[in-house]
Amino acid sequence: MASGDLLKRLFASYRRGDSKEFNNAALELIAEEEQRNHHVLARDLQKILENGNGRPTSSVRRFDLEQIPQDRERGTTLLEIRSPQRFLNELIISPELHEQIDVVLNEYRALQILQANNLRARQKLLLAGPPGCGKTLCAEVIASELGLPLIYTRFDAVISSYLGETAANLRKVFEYAQRGTWVVFFDEFDAIGKSREDVEDHGELKRVVNTFLQLLDNFESDSIFIAATNHERLLDRALWRRFDDILFFDKPTADQIRKLIDIKLSSVRHMDLNIDSFVDRMVGWSHADVERVCFEAIKIGLLLRQTIVTDEIFTLAYERQRRRLEIVQKTTQ
Ligand SMILES: Nc1ncnc2c1ncn2[C@@H]1O[C@H](COP(=O)(O)OP(=O)(O)OP(=O)(O)O)[C@@H](O)[C@H]1O
Ligand SMILES: [Mg+2]
Repeated sequence: MASGDLLKRLFASYRRGDSKEFNNAALELIAEEEQRNHHVLARDLQKILENGNGRPTSSVRRFDLEQIPQDRERGTTLLEIRSPQRFLNELIISPELHEQIDVVLNEYRALQILQANNLRARQKLLLAGPPGCGKTLCAEVIASELGLPLIYTRFDAVISSYLGETAANLRKVFEYAQRGTWVVFFDEFDAIGKSREDVEDHGELKRVVNTFLQLLDNFESDSIFIAATNHERLLDRALWRRFDDILFFDKPTADQIRKLIDIKLSSVRHMDLNIDSFVDRMVGWSHADVERVCFEAIKIGLLLRQTIVTDEIFTLAYERQRRRLEIVQKTTQ
């Protein structure tokens, strides 16, 4: 905790309305916390001091009155502001990926120290991997863990059939993002990031990708920029280079499936359920598929007025999901 003298100075200056002294005392207090290795607290205090507002989601408060940018032709909003509440312990991923995310979080928490030493934190991330394996969840987790609001932009909202409008929309999103500190998340990134060598993608798309690259290069702020794709092979090399780190998400291993089921069923009784007998059958499924089986099982149990998820209930839920996946596979072949 801060020293008593410093706290007294802070209170006294506040009482006198001496904002200069208040500011000095506050800065000393932040430095003191920094020295004690309380980096998160120091950073939060700094933010409060800068924004004049006690909440980490201050960007939302400051900017929510300002117009969220819209597509000029369609009048639709180009982004959404979210305050995610999902944390690291929910993410079931490999230890390597876990470590990569830890590095991102730790570097961001030490952003000022790194900046003071002319070092860059990993602030521009590309998340790649198959659907339903945690890319969007990861962006939310990073935002929650760092106490930052999240700007969510889907590329299909940005892409316009009107010439030049997509680039204009992109510019609007970046301009908006530049005004606060957030996790800026571009989902379904492939829509724009398709290889510029792709023979069919001439003209407009090329211009859009170039605009995007320029905007990304010029995006200097305390925000974290995250783009997600499930077609990483389609992405242009020029795009890859722009990111400080690339995080690959994969389908869950048998162990991870077991863990996921355990977590998702933690709110209901299931002690007689033989989870292992299902795990092997779900290898190859995404996290989202496995999660759906768990939710389905809980729902079936509730509708049957049963407080326990049994083998029978779980089998029924599993079969429903298996059939669903079969249909999806047939229709997408
Ligand atoms: N690695 C994971 N650990 C725990 N839960 C997960 C994981 N991946 C996915 N889930 C669950 O499935 C849901 C959907 O996953 P998510 O939206 O993050 O997938 P995605 O990789 O972004 O997929 P898409 O490519 O379709 O956008 C999540 O909200 C979460 O509940
Ligand atoms: Mg997603």
